Amino acid sequence: MPAETRYDSMRYNRTGRSGLLLPAVSLGIWYNFGGVDPLENARAMIHKAFDLGITHIDIGNNYGPPPGSAEETLGRILRDDLSSYRDELVISDKAGYYMWPGPYGEWGSRKYLIASCDQSLKRTGLEYFDIFYSHRPDPDTPLEETMGALDYIVRSGRALYAGISTYSLEQTREASRILRELGTPCLIHQPRYNMFDRWIEDGLLDVLEEEGIGCIAFSPLAQGILTNKYIREMPDDSRAQKLSGRFHWGDEVSEDRVAMVRKLNEIAKARGQNMAQLAVAWVLRNKGMTSALIGASRPEQIEDVVKALDNLDFSDEELQAIEGILAG
Ligand SMILES: NC(=O)c1ccc[n+]([C@@H]2O[C@H](COP(=O)([O-])OP(=O)(O)OC[C@H]3O[C@@H](n4cnc5c(N)ncnc54)[C@H](OP(=O)(O)O)[C@@H]3O)[C@@H](O)[C@H]2O)c1
Repeated sequence: MPAETRYDSMRYNRTGRSGLLLPAVSLGIWYNFGGVDPLENARAMIHKAFDLGITHIDIGNNYGPPPGSAEETLGRILRDDLSSYRDELVISDKAGYYMWPGPYGEWGSRKYLIASCDQSLKRTGLEYFDIFYSHRPDPDTPLEETMGALDYIVRSGRALYAGISTYSLEQTREASRILRELGTPCLIHQPRYNMFDRWIEDGLLDVLEEEGIGCIAFSPLAQGILTNKYIREMPDDSRAQKLSGRFHWGDEVSEDRVAMVRKLNEIAKARGQNMAQLAVAWVLRNKGMTSALIGASRPEQIEDVVKALDNLDFSDEELQAIEGILAG
């Protein structure tokens, strides 16, 4: 049975100008939910998240390894344990990256997006996704076609809302216009955003506000670097160690970054937080930020990060001190 207290302390934010509320912290299952990972740990993390009021779980067709297996893991947990709670959950899925060989297995064609969505529904065993994303912009497919496929996915009942991920400011404006004209407004943008990667501050957040689109920031902890994890050493059970230092998205556990994190950690401590909590609170300080989309390798990390919500206010001095550290 899920905790009866699950809605007592989570904060829910409106997604843009839509009717959908999302938890301020959401859980993504990019890593640690694949076919190679222990099912019982994955189960414990989903249970922990739901017990804490994290009603939103984010997947992608390619999450694993192997690709597709995170969807199978989630599907199994939902079926075994949470089938009567489907209406309390917002499950998002995506297509855009490589999934199968040949010309129809990646990017943004109508052919790929609809086939991939159908495969994802099968692997998760769900009747519909709450949000379906174009995972990345396709430079060679007309945006009208990609957005038309999202509109169709919603109209055909495969998803309730449409979203875009990692689209630039100009692509976002254009995608939003097309989707609005089609009658399926863009619900949400999923960009990468954290203290080390602040591209969305250069206009994207303003466009999202103008267009009434929500924002869910992925990798708010820079894959774990913005935590206390690497302050002293490289732990054996860390993502950096598992990936032999080859993080995606250019993240690296460099001396410079660790030195910054040590200083940021002092600010965190003065606020009564740890580094991970500071990093998530800092992401959520933006007006218009709907949710911080974290990952985890064990249930305790989720519990730890959610405590960020106890202190989301920043003084000007704190913000300036953080800017000073990030500026090196
Ligand atoms: N749209 C896209 O293109 C895209 C791309 C990437 C990710 N995403 C989404 O964003 C989600 C989150 O990405 P992410 O996993 O990179 O997020 P993240 O929150 O920046 O990093 C998660 C990692 O941080 C560490 N961590 C988490 N909580 C911690 C704590 N309390 N103390 C110490 N370490 C902690 C864990 O690392 P260890 O594993 O080392 O313990 C965990 O695996 C993904 O699951 C996916 O849904 C989307």
